[in-house]
Amino acid sequence: MTNDFNILVFISGRGSNLKSLLNNADNYNIIGILSNNPEAPGLKFGREKNIPCYPLARSDYPSLKEFKAAVFKKACDIDPDLIALAGYMQIIQPEFVDTFYGRMVNIHPSLLPKYPGLDTHQRVLEAGDSEHGCTIHFVDSDVDSGPIIAQSICPCYREDTEEEIAARVLKMEHQLYPWVINSIASGDIKLNKRQVSFSNKAKQEAEDLHFSLGGNN
Ligand code: GRF
Repeated sequence: MTNDFNILVFISGRGSNLKSLLNNADNYNIIGILSNNPEAPGLKFGREKNIPCYPLARSDYPSLKEFKAAVFKKACDIDPDLIALAGYMQIIQPEFVDTFYGRMVNIHPSLLPKYPGLDTHQRVLEAGDSEHGCTIHFVDSDVDSGPIIAQSICPCYREDTEEEIAARVLKMEHQLYPWVINSIASGDIKLNKRQVSFSNKAKQEAEDLHFSLGGNN
């Protein structure tokens, strides 16, 4: 199927979410993969499908600021309909966020606003939470912050190890992220200022798939 909704995926490492986005692209085209880590194993998933990859290396730039400016420029040159951050381990600078506000989404392995930042599985276990999950949100200028689009929730058990809980959440990430991006591409999920809205179709699908929606739904 040929689509005209173009996304650019940002990764830094393993790329399992990228792989899931590649395998479930019903309504969108992945037109490029950018990594701030030229050694990111996930780049192979793009190369296998002949998708342009943009591995940028911090060591090629005199400062972090100039490196981030080069990443921003590349994104502006490509000018996708949406940037999907998928395990991208670099804070996006305010100018970049402002330019792409409403056109940049992130996946985070916790039920935001709980546990922004790193080591979410460990923190959930230490807190003894009975629930955990993942969140997709539009990106704003704080870390792991911005209007929440959808979450997928799973139980946590007392006897869980960090590895077990990480695997449980990752499996849900691989379902949730393509669903959200397919729904944005089809116009079934929209952002107006800071308010996310959902078509009846998206609401019904979310119910069937046991996803919980952000906004006022
Ligand atoms: C995922 O858990 C994602 O939620 C987080 O970083 C991890 C990336 O994993 N932002 P992968 O590279 O997609 O396998």
